[in-house]
Parts: sequence; structure tokens; C-alpha cells
Amino acid sequence: MAVLITGGAGYIGSHTCVELLEAGEKIVVMDNLSNSSHNSIDAIKKITARDFPFYEADILDSDALDRIFSENGIDSVIHFAGLKSVAESVREPLKYHRNNVIGTQTLCEAMLRHNCKTIVFSSSATVYGVPEKVPVTEDCQTAPTNPYGKTKLEAEEILRRLHDEDIEWKIAVLRYFNPIGAHASGLIGEKPTGIPNNLMPYVCLVTAGKLDEVRVFGNDYPTPDGTGVRDYVHISDLAKAHLCAMRKLREGTDFGVWNIGTGKGYSVLEIIKAFERVNKIAVPYSIAERRDGDVAECYADPSKAYRELGWKAEKSIDEMCADCWNYSKNNKLF
Ligand code: NAD
Ligand code: WQD
Repeated sequence: MAVLITGGAGYIGSHTCVELLEAGEKIVVMDNLSNSSHNSIDAIKKITARDFPFYEADILDSDALDRIFSENGIDSVIHFAGLKSVAESVREPLKYHRNNVIGTQTLCEAMLRHNCKTIVFSSSATVYGVPEKVPVTEDCQTAPTNPYGKTKLEAEEILRRLHDEDIEWKIAVLRYFNPIGAHASGLIGEKPTGIPNNLMPYVCLVTAGKLDEVRVFGNDYPTPDGTGVRDYVHISDLAKAHLCAMRKLREGTDFGVWNIGTGKGYSVLEIIKAFERVNKIAVPYSIAERRDGDVAECYADPSKAYRELGWKAEKSIDEMCADCWNYSKNNKLF
């Protein structure tokens, strides 16, 4: 039997494909390539020396889903396909609702038609909104503050309702904190389109001389150096969490929500300094106004994932910075 990976050509999906293939899993990948390309499919095959079926298809296309399920013995799904820009979701909330919420529903309906009831879902720490406490535990209240975050919570709700009505469903909801880094091969990583919103891709473009300087959004937060603190987790560690979650569901767990982070927060200035030290390169920056919607601190309590999934982040902030820069140079992102 095979695992269907939706959005498998994307940043997190491609790294998860590598981890699954290296663990001997059979996979089928689908992606509409709206934010990725065939290159990552080729790269996954090159890294792993394994082949797998790839479908250029949309999760909103029921006929395509039926074909994929009919042509492959699929018994479980890891669902990454989705749109992820907070800023774009504010401009186009309905596009985000259609893709992320109706997309998830359409996928689940296809799963039901093909009697496939096991799914690992990509959620986000963004569902916590302004965290009621740090470190954030899974039972903290969910109150997303932007349309993107709301779509993630609505998709979680669809899954929760499916499970409430039919306990044959086995569902793992993974709430990622801030994934950064790239595969050690430098062949897959995060390829930003346009000017990035996220810190690490921005740092890479500045370092490469393509943007003038990093604007540090606020230095008057109640944090040790005044800049925002986040939980950055290496993409390869994050990818492994999916394998652990899938194994947990196979062992019989029927529903769970897990934070996937390191448990340690780094400030914006700490990230810039680590990047400079590790890669021996200057990162020009200036202090700018706070960015609307940002919170001072957000980092995970990942102990539930360790206790229940046996998953723990292994890679350091130095490895994250080194791998980001290695991927950027390797892929001439600038
Ligand atoms: P990504 O854009 O690199 O990957 C998503 C992939 O899904 C892309 O390859 C895209 O082409 C594909 N896709 C989008 N809509 C689709 C559709 N309707 N049908 C088929 N394919 C579609 O993003 P990512 O960073 O790899 O994120 C993967 C998932 O994890 C997303 O659901 C995202 O919301 C979630 N997530 C990401 C982060 C992050 O910081 N990167 C954090 C938390 C959660
Ligand atoms: C990190 C820190 C910024 C850019 C976002 C989404 C979240 C999730 C992960 C998907 C903050 C500061 C940033 C810059 C800066 N994605 N910063 N200058 O905002 O924690 O989370 O990505 O689910 O939903 O909201 O990540 O990388 O944008 O910011 O100073 O040019 O870097 O203020 O403190 P964020 P980020």
C-alpha cells in the first residue's frame, strides 16, 4: 500500500517524500505545481534513487482524485497541498477558503469514496493567534488572527468532525512552528517567489546582494533584545515528524494534535548573528516599525510530540543557517 502526498512538490512535502522513501515507504505524489515545479520531483528521485508516481493534479478536482486513488493502492494521505501566505490571504480570503478548506473537504470526500481513512494534516502554529502563554501547548486556545490561519483551523475542524462521526478515521494534526533550512544535499529547499515575507528567505536574498538589508520588524518587544522570538525548526526534522505521526496512526491512535517545534525561541537578531557567524558573511540590517499582526514571542512546548510520537528536533540553529545558505547558493536563487 502507498501513502498519497498532496503538495509533495512543495517545500515541506518534498522533504517529507525523501524521509518516507528513505524509510522504505511507497509513495504517490500529487501537486498542481502552483507554487513548485517538476524540479523538486526530479530532485527527490535523485536524492533517494527511488521512483514513484507523480500526478500534476489539483485537490479540488474530484475526478483527478478518483483516478489517483483507483490507479494506486493508497491507504493513507499526508496532506500538504495548500496556500500559505498570510499577506495574500488578507487580500484574497476566498481564494484561501476555496483552496485550503474546500480543498481539504474535497480530498476527504475522495478518501471516503475509496475507503481510505488515515490522514496526517499540515496545520500551523498560526492557529493559536496571539498565544495565551509560551511555550505554547496543544490545549492553548485557538484564535487565528488572519484568514490563512482561519482556513487551517477550519480544515482541522473538518477532520475533527469526521473523526467524531466515524472512529475508523485516524487523524494526526501537526501544528508546525517556523520551518527553515534545506536538505543537506542542497537539492531541495524553499524557493521563494517574489519578495519573501518570511525572515530566513529574506536574509538569504540580502546576503546574496539581491535586497539591500533586512528590516527587523520592531526592537521594542518585551523580549531579551526587543526583537520577535520564534521557534525555528529544521525542515528535515519537521519532515521526520510526519513519519512518526503516520506510525502512531498505524499503531491505532485515532486522533491527535501535536506541536512540531524545537521548544526554543530565537530572536530576529539572534538569527541574523547566527547566520553571519556560521556562513562567515555579513547580513546588513536596520530596525524598522513593528509588522502588523506580529506577536512578541511564539515557541512550542513540543513535549507531547516527544512523549507520544517519539519525535524530537535534532538539528541546531547553526545547521539551519548553514543549510539555507547552501541551498540558496546551490540553486542560484539570486
Ligand atoms: P509550499 O507552497 O512549498 O507547498 C505546498 C504545495 O502544495 C505546493 O507545491 C503547491 O503547488 C501545492 N498546492 C497548493 N494548492 C494545491 C492544490 N489545490 N492542489 C494541489 N496542489 C496544491 O508550502 P509548504 O511550506 O511546503 O507548506 C506545506 C503545508 O504546510 C501548507 O499546507 C502550509 O499551509 C503548511 N504550513 C507551512 C508552514 C511554513 O512556514 N512553510 C508552516 C505551517 C504550516
Ligand atoms: C519571523 C520573525 C518577524 C521578516 C509565518 C506565518 C505562520 C507560519 C510561519 C505558515 C518575526 C521577523 C520577518 C522580515 C523581520 N507559516 N521578521 N523581518 O511571522 O512567525 O510566521 O511563517 O503557517 O503562519 O505567519 O514568520 O518568518 O515571517 O517572521 O524582522 O523581513 O522575523 O517580525 O518576528 P512568522 P516570519
